[in-house]
Amino acid sequence: MCQYSSDYGHATDWHLVDIGGFATRGAGGINMEATAVIAPLKRIVDFADTQAAKVGIQLAHAGRKLSTLATWVKSSVDRTRHVDTSVAFANEGGWPDNVFGPVNVPWSKGFPTLKEMTEGDLQYVGDAFIAATKRSISAGCEDKRGCKLVPFAEAVKKAHPDIVVGAVGMITTPQQANDILAEGKADLVSRARELLRDPQFVLRAANELGVAVKPAVQYKRAWPGVLARM
Ligand SMILES: Cc1cc2nc3c(=O)[nH]c(=O)nc-3n(C[C@H](O)[C@H](O)[C@H](O)COP(=O)(O)O)c2cc1C
Repeated sequence: MCQYSSDYGHATDWHLVDIGGFATRGAGGINMEATAVIAPLKRIVDFADTQAAKVGIQLAHAGRKLSTLATWVKSSVDRTRHVDTSVAFANEGGWPDNVFGPVNVPWSKGFPTLKEMTEGDLQYVGDAFIAATKRSISAGCEDKRGCKLVPFAEAVKKAHPDIVVGAVGMITTPQQANDILAEGKADLVSRARELLRDPQFVLRAANELGVAVKPAVQYKRAWPGVLARM
């Protein structure tokens, strides 16, 4: 999940604590937000590895949402400068005059004015994706194969049984997640907001469904039921 907390594209302590925290609480796989794939990411992946958690990454080009403020920064900025815009200006670390997208139509009101990409720009982005993929692999990231809302995941799975499909969206209970897997609607289930509401979700789900999941050894004494099944 995008955290808007990197330092000019570099992962920070926030990412280590955030992603590391899920790894210590039984998550089998964690999909990181898109960010520059360099040394700090390897530290996070290595930490997750000590907890037997796999880390994936979503490589992305922010396109028409480039050079915008984090939502919480925008709302505090609005209060002081009274400008209804999401644009991060140059003195705020943004680059609003250098935003490229597929078409020169802003994402919506209050977003940067775009320059339409040329074929050369597309080639540049394509090469950057290839380079980022290579850096992700050397940082130890796992391969991720698409992530769809449950009805789409089910349809893709039906049409292409050999493709590994993940489902995401409004999956909030352990039973719901388990049913999606048991009924073959998807091969893996992701949660976004539910994990923000309850970072212990995986351990709670394991308790409820009667399966084994390993929390960090330091937390063992709080989860005897989960561990007894290992
Ligand atoms: C804070 C936050 C950041 C997100 N960032 C991303 C992202 O970087 N890439 C992405 O594909 N989806 C992102 N999403 C969407 C989620 O992956 C997910 O599709 C959506 O929240 C619905 O799932 P949920 O009901 O489990 O939250 C984000 C969602 C939230 C709440």
